[in-house]
Amino acid sequence: MALYNYKQILEYAKERKFTVGAFNSMNMETVQAAASAADKKKVPLIIQTYHAHVDYAGADYIRAICNVAAKNSGVMLAMGLDHGRNFEQAKLCIDEKFSGVMIDLASEDYELNVRETCRVVEIAHAKGVSVEAELGTIVTADSTPEQIAKGYTDPEIARRFVKETGIDCLAVSIGTAHGMYKYDPVINFGLLQELIETADCPIVVHGGSNTPDEDILKMVKLGIAKLNIGTDFFRAYNQAMYQVLKEKGAETDIVEIMSAARSAVERTAMKKIDLLTAYRI
Ligand code: 13P
Repeated sequence: MALYNYKQILEYAKERKFTVGAFNSMNMETVQAAASAADKKKVPLIIQTYHAHVDYAGADYIRAICNVAAKNSGVMLAMGLDHGRNFEQAKLCIDEKFSGVMIDLASEDYELNVRETCRVVEIAHAKGVSVEAELGTIVTADSTPEQIAKGYTDPEIARRFVKETGIDCLAVSIGTAHGMYKYDPVINFGLLQELIETADCPIVVHGGSNTPDEDILKMVKLGIAKLNIGTDFFRAYNQAMYQVLKEKGAETDIVEIMSAARSAVERTAMKKIDLLTAYRI
């Protein structure tokens, strides 16, 4: 199958009342693990690569790996740039035929965020590529709930932003954060519901790792369109490699090390998919 864009996958999921997983992947093993989990669970998936990992791997390499994943897959797959830093990086990924790009200028002032997001939307939509942008501040998970709450997305500004930019989905700040939580996350479900009802655009929640299952289920039930998860996969990957190396040493066959890592990511991905599709019809 060819790659699908975010819009196509999010619409498909909305009709069937499930949340699309957007799983951060950055090399052959993590892409294979995510794609295989989606295949086994028979559910569409967004494979996305964090902006710094695109720099590391090369947009062309990661796209080529995802191409093979899509060709071999029996489900709809998208691939995207996660937290694109600027217009140039988004353009690079659009030119490399990613099917979705995120442009994250949430830390800039509102006008600049609108202006640059519109530039990305224009070139992306001309090629059938979906665009995600962000409003509010999604901080790192070592922040306190009070610090996280300072970055909450304002529903009225979100509604305006969506209208002014024409984006396909909006990442919001509602209490989750990126990485391993130092304090238990406190999710503002009331705000999330208000954003879902007023923004007129599919809502994306970031920082899905290490978020309690009950919280994920509640967000899924409320109708979030896309949940980004990264750290949990990379941790599973590292732990599995570490375990094999610790037990068997550096002379171990590389295939044994890498396949242990790949299987660990696949298992984690399948568990996340079960949560995201818990209310699927
Ligand atoms: P986590 O690494 O906390 O799961 O966050 C991933 C993310 O939001 C990527 O955009």
